[in-house]
Amino acid sequence: MTPSCKRPLRVAVFGLGYVGTVTAAGLASRGHDVIGVDVDAHKVDEFRHGRSPVIEPGVEALIASAVASRLLSATTDTKRAIAGADISLLCVGTPSGAQGETDLTYVERSVADIRSAMDVVAPPPSGHHSVVVRSTVPPGTVATVVAPQFADNLPEGWTVGTGMMPEFLREGSGVDDFFDPPFVVLGTGDEQTVDTVRDLFGFLEQQVRVVGVGTAEGLKYACNAFHAAKISFANEMGRVLRPLGVDAREVMTVFREDRKLNISGAYLRPGFAYGGSCLPKDLRSLQHLARQGGLDLPLLAGAVQTNELVIRDVIDRVIASRARRVALLGLSFKSNTDDLRESPHVELAERLIGKGFDLLVYDPIINPDRLVGSNRLQVQAKLPHLDRLLVCRPEEVLADAEVAIVAHADQQVRDALISIRPPRIIDLQGDLGSAVEQLPGYEGIAW
Ligand SMILES: NC(=O)c1ccc[n+]([C@@H]2O[C@H](COP(=O)([O-])OP(=O)(O)OC[C@H]3O[C@@H](n4cnc5c(N)ncnc54)[C@H](O)[C@@H]3O)[C@@H](O)[C@H]2O)c1
Repeated sequence: MTPSCKRPLRVAVFGLGYVGTVTAAGLASRGHDVIGVDVDAHKVDEFRHGRSPVIEPGVEALIASAVASRLLSATTDTKRAIAGADISLLCVGTPSGAQGETDLTYVERSVADIRSAMDVVAPPPSGHHSVVVRSTVPPGTVATVVAPQFADNLPEGWTVGTGMMPEFLREGSGVDDFFDPPFVVLGTGDEQTVDTVRDLFGFLEQQVRVVGVGTAEGLKYACNAFHAAKISFANEMGRVLRPLGVDAREVMTVFREDRKLNISGAYLRPGFAYGGSCLPKDLRSLQHLARQGGLDLPLLAGAVQTNELVIRDVIDRVIASRARRVALLGLSFKSNTDDLRESPHVELAERLIGKGFDLLVYDPIINPDRLVGSNRLQVQAKLPHLDRLLVCRPEEVLADAEVAIVAHADQQVRDALISIRPPRIIDLQGDLGSAVEQLPGYEGIAW
Protein backbone atom coordinates (compact mmCIF):
# COMPACT_ATOMS: atom_id res chain seq x y z
CA MET A 1 0.00 0.00 0.00
CA THR A 2 1.40 3.40 -0.99
CA PRO A 3 1.82 5.66 2.09
CA SER A 4 -0.16 8.90 2.52
CA CYS A 5 1.34 12.33 1.93
CA LYS A 6 3.31 14.04 4.71
CA ARG A 7 2.22 17.63 3.95
CA PRO A 8 -1.32 17.87 2.55
CA LEU A 9 -1.55 20.46 -0.22
CA ARG A 10 -4.48 22.20 -1.82
CA VAL A 11 -4.52 21.18 -5.47
CA ALA A 12 -6.54 22.36 -8.49
CA VAL A 13 -6.66 19.84 -11.34
CA PHE A 14 -7.74 21.33 -14.69
CA GLY A 15 -9.41 18.91 -17.11
CA LEU A 16 -11.31 15.89 -15.82
CA GLY A 17 -10.52 13.52 -18.70
CA TYR A 18 -8.44 10.34 -18.39
CA VAL A 19 -5.35 12.05 -17.01
CA GLY A 20 -7.09 14.64 -14.80
CA THR A 21 -9.57 12.18 -13.29
CA VAL A 22 -6.90 9.67 -12.31
CA THR A 23 -4.60 12.45 -11.06
CA ALA A 24 -7.29 14.14 -8.96
CA ALA A 25 -8.53 10.85 -7.49
CA GLY A 26 -5.01 9.53 -6.90
CA LEU A 27 -3.80 12.67 -5.10
CA ALA A 28 -6.95 12.94 -2.97
CA SER A 29 -6.63 9.27 -2.00
CA ARG A 30 -3.22 10.11 -0.53
CA GLY A 31 -4.58 12.90 1.65
CA HIS A 32 -4.30 16.03 -0.50
CA ASP A 33 -7.23 18.45 -0.71
CA VAL A 34 -8.12 18.29 -4.41
CA ILE A 35 -10.60 20.17 -6.54
CA GLY A 36 -11.15 19.21 -10.16
CA VAL A 37 -12.09 21.84 -12.75
CA ASP A 38 -13.73 21.19 -16.08
CA VAL A 39 -15.71 23.24 -18.57
CA ASP A 40 -17.96 20.21 -19.02
CA ALA A 41 -20.66 20.54 -16.35
CA HIS A 42 -21.70 16.91 -16.80
CA LYS A 43 -18.22 15.66 -15.85
CA VAL A 44 -18.14 17.95 -12.84
CA ASP A 45 -21.54 16.67 -11.77
CA GLU A 46 -20.39 13.06 -12.03
CA PHE A 47 -17.40 13.84 -9.84
CA ARG A 48 -19.51 15.59 -7.24
CA HIS A 49 -21.67 12.52 -6.95
CA GLY A 50 -18.62 10.35 -6.40
CA ARG A 51 -18.70 8.84 -9.89
CA SER A 52 -15.99 8.81 -12.51
CA PRO A 53 -16.52 10.67 -15.80
CA VAL A 54 -14.18 8.15 -17.51
CA ILE A 55 -13.97 4.36 -17.45
CA GLU A 56 -10.69 3.42 -15.84
CA PRO A 57 -10.22 0.37 -13.58
CA GLY A 58 -10.08 1.32 -9.89
CA VAL A 59 -10.68 5.04 -10.30
CA GLU A 60 -14.37 5.04 -9.36
CA ALA A 61 -13.62 3.51 -5.95
CA LEU A 62 -10.92 6.13 -5.32
CA ILE A 63 -13.30 8.96 -6.29
CA ALA A 64 -16.20 7.65 -4.20
CA SER A 65 -14.11 7.35 -1.06
CA ALA A 66 -12.27 10.68 -1.55
CA VAL A 67 -15.54 12.56 -2.21
CA ALA A 68 -17.12 10.94 0.88
CA SER A 69 -14.16 12.04 3.01
CA ARG A 70 -14.43 15.56 1.53
CA LEU A 71 -10.91 15.55 0.11
CA LEU A 72 -12.18 15.65 -3.46
CA SER A 73 -14.66 17.96 -5.10
CA ALA A 74 -15.21 19.47 -8.54
CA THR A 75 -16.33 22.74 -10.07
CA THR A 76 -16.69 24.63 -13.32
CA ASP A 77 -15.60 27.78 -11.50
CA THR A 78 -11.84 28.41 -11.71
CA LYS A 79 -12.00 31.04 -8.95
CA ARG A 80 -13.30 28.46 -6.47
CA ALA A 81 -10.51 26.10 -7.43
CA ILE A 82 -7.69 28.63 -7.26
CA ALA A 83 -8.62 30.22 -3.92
CA GLY A 84 -5.92 29.12 -1.49
CA ALA A 85 -4.48 26.52 -3.90
CA ASP A 86 -0.79 25.63 -3.69
CA ILE A 87 -0.65 24.17 -7.17
CA SER A 88 -2.60 23.92 -10.44
CA LEU A 89 -2.07 20.82 -12.55
CA LEU A 90 -3.10 21.31 -16.19
CA CYS A 91 -4.48 18.06 -17.61
CA VAL A 92 -6.59 19.57 -20.41
CA GLY A 93 -6.67 18.11 -23.90
CA THR A 94 -4.03 19.07 -26.49
CA PRO A 95 -5.55 17.62 -29.68
CA SER A 96 -4.09 17.70 -33.20
CA GLY A 97 -4.97 20.56 -35.53
CA ALA A 98 -5.65 20.13 -39.24
CA GLN A 99 -1.93 20.25 -40.17
CA GLY A 100 -0.84 18.02 -37.29
CA GLU A 101 0.03 21.00 -35.11
CA THR A 102 -0.85 20.79 -31.41
CA ASP A 103 -3.94 22.80 -30.59
CA LEU A 104 -3.08 24.66 -27.40
CA THR A 105 -6.41 26.45 -27.08
CA TYR A 106 -7.41 24.58 -23.91
CA VAL A 107 -4.04 25.18 -22.28
CA GLU A 108 -4.20 28.88 -23.15
CA ARG A 109 -7.74 29.17 -21.83
CA SER A 110 -7.11 27.42 -18.54
CA VAL A 111 -3.95 29.46 -17.93
CA ALA A 112 -5.84 32.70 -18.65
CA ASP A 113 -8.62 31.55 -16.29
CA ILE A 114 -6.09 30.86 -13.53
CA ARG A 115 -4.50 34.28 -13.99
CA SER A 116 -7.87 36.09 -13.88
CA ALA A 117 -8.94 34.15 -10.80
CA MET A 118 -5.84 35.36 -8.95
CA ASP A 119 -7.14 38.92 -9.23
CA VAL A 120 -10.13 38.12 -7.08
CA VAL A 121 -9.25 35.26 -4.72
CA ALA A 122 -6.83 34.82 -1.83
CA PRO A 123 -3.45 33.13 -2.31
CA PRO A 124 -2.40 30.08 -0.30
CA PRO A 125 -0.80 30.77 3.12
CA SER A 126 2.68 30.51 1.54
CA GLY A 127 1.71 33.09 -1.11
CA HIS A 128 3.27 30.84 -3.76
CA HIS A 129 1.32 29.03 -6.43
CA SER A 130 2.76 26.59 -8.98
CA VAL A 131 1.22 26.16 -12.42
CA VAL A 132 2.41 22.80 -13.73
CA VAL A 133 1.48 21.35 -17.13
CA ARG A 134 0.79 17.62 -17.25
CA SER A 135 -0.72 17.68 -20.74
CA THR A 136 1.57 16.74 -23.60
CA VAL A 137 2.77 19.99 -25.17
CA PRO A 138 5.47 20.91 -27.72
CA PRO A 139 8.82 22.14 -26.32
CA GLY A 140 8.60 25.87 -25.71
CA THR A 141 4.96 25.85 -24.61
CA VAL A 142 5.60 26.55 -20.93
CA ALA A 143 8.03 29.36 -21.82
CA THR A 144 5.82 31.02 -24.43
CA VAL A 145 2.24 30.21 -23.43
CA VAL A 146 2.21 29.57 -19.68
CA ALA A 147 5.02 31.54 -18.00
CA PRO A 148 4.31 34.94 -19.66
CA GLN A 149 0.83 35.04 -18.08
CA PHE A 150 2.47 35.17 -14.65
CA ALA A 151 5.62 37.13 -15.48
CA ASP A 152 4.53 40.48 -14.02
CA ASN A 153 1.64 42.49 -12.59
CA LEU A 154 0.60 39.67 -10.28
CA PRO A 155 -1.92 40.76 -7.64
CA GLU A 156 -0.59 41.49 -4.17
CA GLY A 157 0.28 38.39 -2.15
CA TRP A 158 0.79 36.02 -5.09
CA THR A 159 4.02 34.64 -6.47
CA VAL A 160 3.90 32.03 -9.23
CA GLY A 161 6.29 29.38 -10.54
CA THR A 162 5.65 27.34 -13.68
CA GLY A 163 6.75 23.94 -14.86
CA MET A 164 6.16 20.84 -16.93
CA MET A 165 5.58 17.41 -15.49
CA PRO A 166 4.73 14.93 -18.24
CA GLU A 167 2.25 12.19 -17.42
CA PHE A 168 3.10 8.62 -18.39
CA LEU A 169 -0.07 6.71 -17.47
CA ARG A 170 -1.72 4.45 -20.01
CA GLU A 171 -5.47 4.19 -20.39
CA GLY A 172 -6.74 0.88 -19.04
CA SER A 173 -4.05 0.74 -16.35
CA GLY A 174 -4.13 4.44 -15.47
CA VAL A 175 -4.50 4.06 -11.70
CA ASP A 176 -1.74 1.44 -11.43
CA ASP A 177 0.52 3.57 -13.63
CA PHE A 178 -0.24 6.69 -11.58
CA PHE A 179 1.00 5.00 -8.40
CA ASP A 180 3.89 3.26 -10.14
CA PRO A 181 5.11 5.53 -12.97
CA PRO A 182 8.23 4.71 -15.01
CA PHE A 183 9.72 7.95 -13.70
CA VAL A 184 8.64 11.22 -12.10
CA VAL A 185 10.08 14.13 -14.04
CA LEU A 186 9.62 17.83 -13.37
CA GLY A 187 10.92 20.55 -15.67
CA THR A 188 11.19 23.87 -13.89
CA GLY A 189 13.61 26.58 -12.86
CA ASP A 190 11.55 27.49 -9.79
CA GLU A 191 12.79 26.06 -6.49
CA GLN A 192 9.46 26.50 -4.71
CA THR A 193 7.72 24.53 -7.44
CA VAL A 194 10.28 21.76 -6.93
CA ASP A 195 9.47 21.70 -3.19
CA THR A 196 5.73 21.73 -3.84
CA VAL A 197 5.88 18.88 -6.37
CA ARG A 198 8.15 16.84 -4.05
CA ASP A 199 5.57 17.22 -1.28
CA LEU A 200 2.71 16.49 -3.68
CA PHE A 201 4.19 13.22 -4.92
CA GLY A 202 6.09 12.30 -1.76
CA PHE A 203 3.99 9.11 -1.44
CA LEU A 204 5.62 7.63 -4.56
CA GLU A 205 8.65 5.39 -4.27
CA GLN A 206 10.51 7.29 -7.01
CA GLN A 207 12.28 10.57 -6.40
CA VAL A 208 11.22 13.59 -8.43
CA ARG A 209 13.82 14.08 -11.17
CA VAL A 210 14.27 17.81 -11.84
CA VAL A 211 15.31 18.84 -15.36
CA GLY A 212 15.00 21.87 -17.64
CA VAL A 213 11.50 22.71 -18.86
CA GLY A 214 12.32 21.91 -22.51
CA THR A 215 13.76 18.55 -21.50
CA ALA A 216 10.55 17.62 -19.70
CA GLU A 217 8.44 18.73 -22.67
CA GLY A 218 10.66 16.91 -25.19
CA LEU A 219 10.89 13.76 -23.06
CA LYS A 220 7.22 12.95 -23.44
CA TYR A 221 7.47 13.14 -27.24
CA ALA A 222 10.64 11.02 -27.20
CA CYS A 223 8.84 8.37 -25.12
CA ASN A 224 5.76 8.25 -27.32
CA ALA A 225 7.78 8.25 -30.55
CA PHE A 226 9.92 5.41 -29.20
CA HIS A 227 6.90 3.37 -28.18
CA ALA A 228 5.37 3.81 -31.64
CA ALA A 229 8.70 2.89 -33.29
CA LYS A 230 9.00 -0.23 -31.09
CA ILE A 231 5.55 -1.44 -32.11
CA SER A 232 6.20 -0.78 -35.78
CA PHE A 233 9.63 -2.40 -35.57
CA ALA A 234 8.16 -5.63 -34.14
CA ASN A 235 5.45 -5.49 -36.79
CA GLU A 236 7.96 -5.02 -39.60
CA MET A 237 9.90 -8.03 -38.32
CA GLY A 238 6.63 -9.97 -38.48
CA ARG A 239 5.97 -8.75 -42.03
CA VAL A 240 9.37 -9.78 -43.36
CA LEU A 241 9.75 -13.04 -41.41
CA ARG A 242 6.30 -14.61 -41.78
CA PRO A 243 6.60 -15.18 -45.57
CA LEU A 244 9.95 -16.85 -44.86
CA GLY A 245 8.24 -19.34 -42.55
CA VAL A 246 9.74 -17.82 -39.40
CA ASP A 247 7.56 -17.15 -36.34
CA ALA A 248 8.31 -13.53 -35.43
CA ARG A 249 6.79 -14.05 -31.96
CA GLU A 250 9.55 -16.50 -31.15
CA VAL A 251 12.22 -14.29 -32.73
CA MET A 252 11.09 -11.31 -30.65
CA THR A 253 10.80 -13.40 -27.48
CA VAL A 254 14.47 -14.32 -27.76
CA PHE A 255 15.31 -10.80 -29.01
CA ARG A 256 13.94 -9.33 -25.75
CA GLU A 257 16.23 -11.54 -23.69
CA ASP A 258 19.23 -9.52 -24.89
CA ARG A 259 19.53 -6.89 -22.20
CA LYS A 260 22.96 -5.84 -23.36
CA LEU A 261 22.26 -4.41 -26.80
CA ASN A 262 18.51 -4.79 -27.51
CA ILE A 263 16.54 -3.86 -24.41
CA SER A 264 19.06 -1.45 -22.95
CA GLY A 265 20.46 2.04 -23.29
CA ALA A 266 22.77 0.91 -26.09
CA TYR A 267 22.41 2.90 -29.33
CA LEU A 268 20.04 5.40 -27.71
CA ARG A 269 22.30 8.43 -27.72
CA PRO A 270 21.83 11.06 -30.41
CA GLY A 271 24.99 11.40 -32.50
CA PHE A 272 26.31 10.61 -35.93
CA ALA A 273 25.29 8.00 -38.51
CA TYR A 274 25.69 4.25 -38.04
CA GLY A 275 28.02 2.30 -40.31
CA GLY A 276 30.47 -0.56 -40.25
CA SER A 277 30.56 -3.97 -41.80
CA CYS A 278 27.18 -5.22 -40.52
CA LEU A 279 24.32 -2.74 -40.07
CA PRO A 280 24.25 -1.22 -43.59
CA LYS A 281 24.73 -4.61 -45.27
CA ASP A 282 22.13 -6.43 -43.21
CA LEU A 283 19.54 -3.69 -43.58
CA ARG A 284 20.02 -3.93 -47.36
CA SER A 285 19.55 -7.68 -47.15
CA LEU A 286 16.30 -7.34 -45.16
CA GLN A 287 14.99 -4.78 -47.64
CA HIS A 288 15.88 -7.13 -50.47
CA LEU A 289 14.04 -10.05 -48.82
CA ALA A 290 11.01 -7.83 -48.32
CA ARG A 291 11.03 -6.63 -51.93
CA GLN A 292 11.16 -10.21 -53.15
CA GLY A 293 7.96 -10.83 -51.20
CA GLY A 294 6.40 -7.61 -52.56
CA LEU A 295 6.58 -5.95 -49.14
CA ASP A 296 7.57 -2.49 -47.95
CA LEU A 297 9.43 -1.96 -44.66
CA PRO A 298 9.11 1.82 -44.30
CA LEU A 299 10.48 2.00 -40.76
CA LEU A 300 13.73 0.29 -41.78
CA ALA A 301 13.82 2.28 -45.03
CA GLY A 302 13.42 5.36 -42.84
CA ALA A 303 16.42 4.32 -40.75
CA VAL A 304 18.58 4.29 -43.88
CA GLN A 305 17.16 7.65 -44.91
CA THR A 306 17.78 9.22 -41.51
CA ASN A 307 21.36 7.96 -41.63
CA GLU A 308 21.89 9.72 -44.93
CA LEU A 309 20.28 12.95 -43.65
CA VAL A 310 22.57 13.01 -40.63
CA ILE A 311 25.65 12.85 -42.90
CA ARG A 312 24.22 15.50 -45.22
CA ASP A 313 23.49 17.80 -42.29
CA VAL A 314 27.17 17.88 -41.31
CA ILE A 315 28.23 18.62 -44.91
CA ASP A 316 25.65 21.42 -45.08
CA ARG A 317 26.95 22.94 -41.85
CA VAL A 318 30.53 22.90 -43.15
CA ILE A 319 29.40 24.50 -46.42
CA ALA A 320 27.43 27.15 -44.52
CA SER A 321 30.49 27.99 -42.41
CA ARG A 322 32.33 29.16 -45.60
CA ALA A 323 35.45 27.43 -44.29
CA ARG A 324 37.94 25.81 -46.68
CA ARG A 325 40.25 23.90 -44.34
CA VAL A 326 38.56 21.06 -42.48
CA ALA A 327 39.95 18.61 -39.93
CA LEU A 328 38.33 15.24 -39.37
CA LEU A 329 39.25 13.52 -36.12
CA GLY A 330 38.34 9.85 -36.35
CA LEU A 331 37.87 7.89 -39.56
CA SER A 332 36.87 4.33 -38.70
CA PHE A 333 33.19 3.71 -38.00
CA LYS A 334 33.85 3.70 -34.26
CA SER A 335 36.82 4.22 -31.97
CA ASN A 336 39.34 1.45 -31.23
CA THR A 337 38.96 -0.31 -34.56
CA ASP A 338 40.69 0.15 -37.90
CA ASP A 339 37.62 -1.15 -39.76
CA LEU A 340 36.79 1.42 -42.42
CA ARG A 341 34.14 -0.63 -44.21
CA GLU A 342 31.06 1.55 -44.73
CA SER A 343 32.32 3.99 -42.13
CA PRO A 344 30.10 7.10 -42.27
CA HIS A 345 33.24 9.12 -41.51
CA VAL A 346 34.87 7.83 -44.70
CA GLU A 347 31.70 8.85 -46.51
CA LEU A 348 31.92 12.28 -44.91
CA ALA A 349 35.58 12.62 -45.92
CA GLU A 350 34.88 11.54 -49.50
CA ARG A 351 32.06 14.05 -49.90
CA LEU A 352 34.05 16.92 -48.36
CA ILE A 353 36.96 16.24 -50.72
CA GLY A 354 34.51 15.98 -53.61
CA LYS A 355 33.18 19.44 -52.71
CA GLY A 356 36.68 20.88 -52.81
CA PHE A 357 37.45 21.26 -49.10
CA ASP A 358 41.05 20.93 -47.93
CA LEU A 359 40.71 17.95 -45.64
CA LEU A 360 43.18 16.48 -43.18
CA VAL A 361 42.40 13.43 -41.09
CA TYR A 362 43.64 12.22 -37.74
CA ASP A 363 42.91 8.70 -36.51
CA PRO A 364 45.46 7.13 -34.17
CA ILE A 365 44.55 3.58 -35.18
CA ILE A 366 44.51 3.87 -38.96
CA ASN A 367 47.73 3.03 -40.76
CA PRO A 368 47.15 2.90 -44.55
CA ASP A 369 50.08 0.50 -45.01
CA ARG A 370 48.51 -2.07 -42.72
CA LEU A 371 44.99 -2.09 -44.16
CA VAL A 372 44.17 -5.39 -45.85
CA GLY A 373 41.34 -7.21 -47.65
CA SER A 374 37.96 -5.55 -48.13
CA ASN A 375 38.98 -2.85 -45.68
CA ARG A 376 41.78 -1.82 -48.07
CA LEU A 377 39.54 -2.06 -51.15
CA GLN A 378 36.93 0.15 -49.51
CA VAL A 379 39.50 2.85 -48.76
CA GLN A 380 41.04 2.65 -52.21
CA ALA A 381 37.62 3.21 -53.76
CA LYS A 382 36.54 6.04 -51.48
CA LEU A 383 39.77 7.73 -50.37
CA PRO A 384 42.54 6.67 -52.79
CA HIS A 385 44.97 9.25 -51.34
CA LEU A 386 44.36 8.46 -47.71
CA ASP A 387 48.06 8.41 -46.87
CA ARG A 388 48.29 12.05 -48.01
CA LEU A 389 45.33 13.07 -45.86
CA LEU A 390 46.41 11.38 -42.64
CA VAL A 391 48.49 13.19 -40.05
CA CYS A 392 50.05 11.67 -36.96
CA ARG A 393 49.08 14.06 -34.17
CA PRO A 394 45.85 15.88 -33.30
CA GLU A 395 47.77 19.17 -33.03
CA GLU A 396 48.81 18.79 -36.67
CA VAL A 397 45.29 18.19 -37.97
CA LEU A 398 43.96 21.15 -35.98
CA ALA A 399 46.78 23.61 -36.64
CA ASP A 400 45.20 25.41 -39.64
CA ALA A 401 41.70 23.99 -39.51
CA GLU A 402 38.77 26.37 -39.72
CA VAL A 403 36.34 23.59 -38.85
CA ALA A 404 37.14 20.52 -36.75
CA ILE A 405 34.74 17.60 -37.07
CA VAL A 406 35.25 15.32 -34.09
CA ALA A 407 34.10 11.77 -34.65
CA HIS A 408 36.05 10.09 -31.86
CA ALA A 409 38.15 11.62 -29.19
CA ASP A 410 40.64 10.52 -26.56
CA GLN A 411 42.26 12.76 -23.97
CA GLN A 412 44.96 13.78 -26.45
CA VAL A 413 42.30 15.08 -28.84
CA ARG A 414 40.47 16.91 -26.06
CA ASP A 415 43.70 18.58 -24.90
CA ALA A 416 44.57 19.60 -28.45
CA LEU A 417 41.11 21.13 -28.99
CA ILE A 418 41.43 23.12 -25.78
CA SER A 419 44.92 24.41 -26.56
CA ILE A 420 44.46 25.14 -30.29
CA ARG A 421 40.80 26.27 -30.18
CA PRO A 422 39.76 25.84 -33.80
CA PRO A 423 37.20 28.50 -34.79
CA ARG A 424 34.47 25.89 -35.17
CA ILE A 425 34.09 22.42 -33.62
CA ILE A 426 31.36 20.04 -34.76
CA ASP A 427 31.00 17.27 -32.17
CA LEU A 428 29.53 14.05 -33.60
CA GLN A 429 29.61 11.99 -30.40
CA GLY A 430 28.80 14.18 -27.42
CA ASP A 431 31.50 12.93 -25.05
CA LEU A 432 34.09 15.70 -25.36
CA GLY A 433 33.37 17.02 -21.87
CA SER A 434 32.43 20.45 -20.57
CA ALA A 435 35.87 22.05 -21.07
CA VAL A 436 35.56 21.54 -24.83
CA GLU A 437 31.82 22.25 -24.94
CA GLN A 438 32.44 25.67 -23.40
CA LEU A 439 34.86 26.70 -26.14
CA PRO A 440 33.57 29.39 -28.50
CA GLY A 441 32.58 27.82 -31.82
CA TYR A 442 31.59 24.47 -30.29
CA GLU A 443 28.40 22.87 -31.58
CA GLY A 444 26.93 19.43 -31.06
CA ILE A 445 25.38 17.50 -33.89
CA ALA A 446 22.05 17.16 -32.07
CA TRP A 447 22.32 19.31 -28.95
N1 LIG B 1 -5.02 9.69 -22.27
C1 LIG B 1 -3.81 9.27 -21.96
O1 LIG B 1 -3.56 8.07 -21.84
C2 LIG B 1 -2.70 10.26 -21.73
C3 LIG B 1 -1.54 9.83 -21.13
C4 LIG B 1 -0.52 10.76 -20.88
C5 LIG B 1 -0.68 12.07 -21.30
N2 LIG B 1 -1.83 12.44 -21.92
C6 LIG B 1 -1.98 13.86 -22.29
O2 LIG B 1 -2.73 14.48 -21.24
C7 LIG B 1 -3.62 15.47 -21.77
C8 LIG B 1 -5.05 15.14 -21.42
O3 LIG B 1 -5.40 13.90 -22.01
P1 LIG B 1 -6.78 13.20 -21.69
O4 LIG B 1 -6.78 11.93 -22.45
O5 LIG B 1 -7.03 13.18 -20.21
O6 LIG B 1 -7.78 14.26 -22.37
P2 LIG B 1 -9.39 14.27 -22.36
O7 LIG B 1 -9.82 14.79 -23.66
O8 LIG B 1 -9.91 12.94 -21.89
O9 LIG B 1 -9.74 15.31 -21.22
C9 LIG B 1 -9.46 16.68 -21.33
C10 LIG B 1 -10.47 17.42 -20.44
O10 LIG B 1 -10.10 18.80 -20.39
C11 LIG B 1 -11.30 19.54 -20.30
N3 LIG B 1 -11.04 20.96 -20.59
C12 LIG B 1 -10.85 21.53 -21.79
N4 LIG B 1 -10.63 22.85 -21.64
C13 LIG B 1 -10.68 23.13 -20.32
C14 LIG B 1 -10.51 24.31 -19.54
N5 LIG B 1 -10.24 25.49 -20.10
N6 LIG B 1 -10.64 24.20 -18.20
C15 LIG B 1 -10.89 23.03 -17.63
N7 LIG B 1 -11.06 21.87 -18.31
C16 LIG B 1 -10.94 21.92 -19.65
C17 LIG B 1 -12.21 18.82 -21.27
O11 LIG B 1 -13.59 19.14 -21.06
C18 LIG B 1 -11.90 17.36 -20.95
O12 LIG B 1 -12.74 16.86 -19.94
C19 LIG B 1 -3.31 15.50 -23.27
O13 LIG B 1 -2.34 16.45 -23.52
C20 LIG B 1 -2.76 14.12 -23.56
O14 LIG B 1 -1.92 14.12 -24.70
C21 LIG B 1 -2.84 11.57 -22.14
